[in-house]
Order: sequence, then structure tokens, then C-alpha cells
Amino acid sequence: MALQLGDTAPDFETDTTTGPIKFHDWIGDSWAILFSHPKDFTPVCTTELGEVARLSGEFAKRNTKVIGLSVDDVRSHLEWEKDISDTQGQNVNFPMIADPDKKVADLYGMIHPNASNTFTVRSVFVIDPAKKVRLTITYPASTGRNFKEILRVVDSLQLTDEYMVSTPVNWTDGDDVIIAPSLSDDEATAKFPKGYRKLKSYLRLTPQPNR
Ligand code: BEZ
Repeated sequence: MALQLGDTAPDFETDTTTGPIKFHDWIGDSWAILFSHPKDFTPVCTTELGEVARLSGEFAKRNTKVIGLSVDDVRSHLEWEKDISDTQGQNVNFPMIADPDKKVADLYGMIHPNASNTFTVRSVFVIDPAKKVRLTITYPASTGRNFKEILRVVDSLQLTDEYMVSTPVNWTDGDDVIIAPSLSDDEATAKFPKGYRKLKSYLRLTPQPNR
């Protein structure tokens, strides 16, 4: 069965462009984003890896490590990284998993045989420090991902883990948030001193509490 939210992310040992890792030890106390690519030396992936490298400061601010995967070997990944530097103006500054035997791809269900038997699809897994899967997204090979959206979800997960709130449609960091319906009005008043707007008994909006 496919990995589901709340499942423990499977652990594995593998070679990467920055040396061998044991996945859970590599995550440590951080959040992690594991994302797969169909193949080395492909155009959409080339742009994605440049963008993820450019966003390294944003991932670091969120205590989040990133790691890519494709089914090619380390030598191929390192050759490809030269092209990424050339074309994207950005050195790849995170590890890339070499998965020629598709061991990790199979563990994470990254091969969708009715799409392709040989290439991984564009999977994204956000994993928390407890090693639980908190987000899964699957994109088709022909569509590059929006990594700002993935950062937005990490912001939401980190905020809603800390406060009794959820984030509304199209929310971005700094926007108002929704108070958990399980809190009474009195409890909401005590927990959210900036006040709140009550549109319905179940829909109460308050300024982002950590701002
Ligand atoms: C790409 O990264 O450009 C790509 C890879 C596989 C299929 C289609 C596009």
C-alpha cells in the first residue's frame, strides 16, 4: 500500500553525491523533504534542482533538509550537476540519492508502472523530526514542481503543530489563521490575546500567533 500521512517514513541506507547515509540518522532532529526525479540529464529536473539549490536559505530557516533521488548512479549525478551549475547559475548544495536498483524508489512507491516502468515520477515527501510522513505530492514527469508551495506547506505544518490553529485557503506566512473549532470562545480568548473575528461558530480567524 502507498505511504500515507502519519506513517513512519521507511528508513534506508544508500549512496548519495555527498557520501553514504542512513536516512533517519541523516534527518536527525530536522524536518526533511525527499523528492524524486525521473532521470538524470532531463530538462525539467535540471531547472528544479537549480531552484531547490537557490532556496537553500529558505529551507535552512525552517530547519529543513532536502534530498533528491533519481535512479541513476553517483557518477552520473555528479556529471549532471555540472550542467545544472552551467545552465541554472547555481551549484547543487544538497545530496542526491543514487538509486540504480530502485530500492528507495520501491520503498516510497515512486515508480508508477502505468506511467513508466523505468522512471520515477515526481514524488515529494515532507517528513517531520519524529520521522512521520506529513505531506505527499505526486506530479507527472512533464510538470515541474512549485517548491514555494512546498515551503508554504512546511510553514503551515510547523505553525499548526505549535498552536491550535489551521491555515485557510491560499494562506501564506503572516496571514490570519483559523482557530481550532474544538476550543470554546472563552478558551480562544485566553489563547489568542490578539483577538479573533467570529464569522460562524466554527470559523474564527485570528492573527498568526507567532508574529
Ligand atoms: C524532464 O525532466 O524534463 C522530463 C523527464 C521525464 C519525462 C519528461 C520530462
